[in-house]
Amino acid sequence: MKAINLLATTALIALVSLPVHAQTSPKGVWLGRDDGAAQTPPMGWNSWNAFRTEVDEDKVMGAARALVDDGLAKKGYTYVNLDDGWWLKRRQPDGRMIVRTRIFPSAATKDGATSFRPFTDRLHAMGLKAGIYTDIGRNACSQAYNLDSPNLPEGTAQERQVGLDGHEAQDINLYFKDWGFDYIKVDACGLADYAPGSKRVIDNGYIGLEPEIDRSSLNRTDDARVEARYQKVATALKAANPDGDYVFSICDWGMADVRRWGKDVGSSWRTSSDITPNWSSMLHNYDSAAGRALYAGPGHWNDPDILYIGAGDFDADHLTEARSHFSLWAMLDAPLLISYDLRKAPQALLDIWGNADLIAVDQDKAGNQATIAYDSEDAQILVKTMSDGHKVAALFNRTASPQTVTLMASHLKLRSDAPITLTDLWSKAQSAFTGETTFTLAPHETRVFSAQGPRELANGLYLSEMPGAINVADDGVRNPELDPAIHRMIDPWGGSRSGGSRPMYAGWGGAQADATPYGETLQIDGQSFTNGLGVLGNSLLQVKNDKGFTSFHATVGIDDSTRNRDRPVTFFVYADGKQVAKSPALRFGDRPFELNADISGARVIELQAVNDSERNEIPVVVTWGAARLERP
Ligand code: GAL
Repeated sequence: MKAINLLATTALIALVSLPVHAQTSPKGVWLGRDDGAAQTPPMGWNSWNAFRTEVDEDKVMGAARALVDDGLAKKGYTYVNLDDGWWLKRRQPDGRMIVRTRIFPSAATKDGATSFRPFTDRLHAMGLKAGIYTDIGRNACSQAYNLDSPNLPEGTAQERQVGLDGHEAQDINLYFKDWGFDYIKVDACGLADYAPGSKRVIDNGYIGLEPEIDRSSLNRTDDARVEARYQKVATALKAANPDGDYVFSICDWGMADVRRWGKDVGSSWRTSSDITPNWSSMLHNYDSAAGRALYAGPGHWNDPDILYIGAGDFDADHLTEARSHFSLWAMLDAPLLISYDLRKAPQALLDIWGNADLIAVDQDKAGNQATIAYDSEDAQILVKTMSDGHKVAALFNRTASPQTVTLMASHLKLRSDAPITLTDLWSKAQSAFTGETTFTLAPHETRVFSAQGPRELANGLYLSEMPGAINVADDGVRNPELDPAIHRMIDPWGGSRSGGSRPMYAGWGGAQADATPYGETLQIDGQSFTNGLGVLGNSLLQVKNDKGFTSFHATVGIDDSTRNRDRPVTFFVYADGKQVAKSPALRFGDRPFELNADISGARVIELQAVNDSERNEIPVVVTWGAARLERP
């Protein structure tokens, strides 16, 4: 009895005195998803931008042959991905998906069941991999937006339900086990565009599905249901691919707060709506991923969409723009999926896709997406830390006029009193500077340099230099907010037939490298930090310590930019689940507090910031200033 009482009392004390949110409590183990085949961003070809639904076997095999013959496959472009248009129907009553053999003749079988196996066998025999496309709902995007396509699903309403809803395991098993695909892109129009009773549903005789994604309202989008649906697919994929050799590409266009959960569910997740071949659209899609470095890493990547190099503003007459598009995608660790009719590609474009130095930037195994070292609407400097420690900097002119940009050693976190050598990854020209160097960028130009020099931090790494080794287990965002920092293009479909362009991407307040969650300079009680992590209170960041660092250091406090100045915040550091440092409860305006911890031998370091808060209260902005791992 006594013992039970004691236990109960201890439990009660623990409950009352532990300032730990269930959500943010330290886990002691790495929770980041790093299984699947996408240890580096997937590379290859996709049919959509080149052919829309008018895809066919000749066109796809032509692309596959060109990938091999032009040497692109050898450089890493191995996935050959079908997009919308391949399907004929879902056979009734067994629900088997049937291929449209008019455009994929090799899929014909005597019994009419059809099989993509001969097609994937041919790709595999060429040393390539095969990707297929589906939808998370019942109906697909083309059934809403390409109604004049010759390749829409046919038959009864049930036969035209080609999406995964209710058939997750059946379809995944068919596509991966029977047909031998290696990659799947799962779109989401089925959850957005088929409201029961809507004109589209009635006119086309579809069976409606109550929308779970509202393309124009965050509050009317059911994040949890969308996440659960994609999680169901992830589970089916794992079961169908015990060898882990699969890629799961989530395509819900940055909706449903996928920023938060995409990394735990898929290999990549689209961060925005579809890219179109114009500069403004490229800016929009780039922005949607550029502030999200901490959410990407080996096995899980931000996806600003397939490449549009070869068309419109990025065609062979606009090589500056085409190179910028490619450079930026490489800096973002984005999937590199060519979407062009490769049977007739000009050499100038092949040279862009084939730039081995830029490919190596994208494919570096540390998976550190570039972070923004200098930010403005005119020009930006992106810096990426490669696995061997050297830096790659991209100087990006967003505008149509020339811009003067000064690259500083501090942008690179390299010492300003020693020479730094630069190699231009497009021209291959070499140069050197000490302290700073200035360039004039042509309109829309991006210069990319590999940079070598002594590091500011000789025996360690700032956490903002290693985003690929960080898992944002909980970013503290309780009420998702729209990201206002994204270039607002004129909607390519609606044009200006609305009150304005309002992207529905809930990214605001997410954890950031070298900036607050709202893009401000990190600053505590008047002391600013060029290095550090910015995050909200009630958050948990995990850091993978696979390089054997022995100590952790940071200068922490409530950020001067916080709108909520009322709540004290306590900072904790854990090494493999054991508390190794703790701050006092720090208030707004308190001096920054030094946290130093011995983390010898620990694999997972966890950074937790905890404060009381009411539901719907404005979050507190906290700063892990100069957060770093070191060794003696
Ligand atoms: C869109 C998707 C595109 C393409 C298209 C096919 O929703 O974002 O990448 O797959 O559907 O209809």
